[in-house]
Amino acid sequence: MAAAPAPGDQTSRDDADRSAEGAASVAGVDPSPAEPPGQPIVETRGLRKSFGENEILAGIDFAVHPGEVVSVIGASGSGKSTFLRCVNLLEWPSAGQVLYHGQDVLARGYDVSRFRARLGMVFQQFNLFNNLNVLDNCVIGQVRAAGRPTSEARERALGYLAKVGMERYVRAKPRQLSGGQKQRVAIARALSMEPEALLFDEPTSALDPEMVGEVLAVMGELAESGLTMVIVTHEMAFARDVSDRVAFMDGGVIAEEGPAQAVFSAPEQARTKEFLARFHAG
Ligand SMILES: Nc1ncnc2c1ncn2[C@@H]1O[C@H](COP(=O)(O)OP(=O)(O)OP(=O)(O)O)[C@@H](O)[C@H]1O
Ligand SMILES: [Mg+2]
Repeated sequence: MAAAPAPGDQTSRDDADRSAEGAASVAGVDPSPAEPPGQPIVETRGLRKSFGENEILAGIDFAVHPGEVVSVIGASGSGKSTFLRCVNLLEWPSAGQVLYHGQDVLARGYDVSRFRARLGMVFQQFNLFNNLNVLDNCVIGQVRAAGRPTSEARERALGYLAKVGMERYVRAKPRQLSGGQKQRVAIARALSMEPEALLFDEPTSALDPEMVGEVLAVMGELAESGLTMVIVTHEMAFARDVSDRVAFMDGGVIAEEGPAQAVFSAPEQARTKEFLARFHAG
């Protein structure tokens, strides 16, 4: 989440800021051939990211359009988190383009903080502020980053906390909540910023199994309501049933992408078949 600095993400955010200047000039790369019509909210073209000698993203062409729900799946270590973090510039890409409504946000002079504030992020580990209660967790970013008056921010936060079923816990501190409740607060916090799209990085994989359902239910409702979502997940049934599209990452690229039902029922690439078969078996 771009606007409310999340604990634990400060270091790489600073790194991204520091490396901003060096990566400002980027060569043009061909767009992805198979895209739905209309301009995407966010698009990546030829997105690359290396850590030292290690190239993690080797040219990712990706787009999410208004109202779309896209799931990103792939083996552990395939670069899914790195990809999401490059999309909202928590990590600075090594090469390629990130376009926001067609404008390259990596270009020199682009107001990166404004772009970041338009994309929300929900993390595996919630990243709530442990010293703040539930309501204040959902207010602070709105006031500090979006400049909203506190009263308006509180009202908005209460509305989104009700939406995720957490309105009765506004005075609770995160340590008093279950994992599923914390994640629902984190979702309300992200929604309170009223982002144009919400990115989820394995929002249920830190949860005890009995709490996965309550978070997926909230996410399913958000998808139904038309929120634009990019979801990195290992919850294959959820990805199949809720997403419009699925992108399978392997070897630093999107190895296969298509309508969710098609990718899950009849994957075309051998490596997608292998990944899904392993998943079904496991
Ligand atoms: N800040 C970093 N510095 C060095 N290497 C990194 C950094 N972040 C990620 N990596 C490496 O990039 C690779 C991809 O990591 P990433 O976390 O993006 O994978 P992932 O697909 O999200 O995996 P998982 O499903 O386990 O979350 C890994 O080999 C990881 O060690
Ligand atoms: Mg990850």
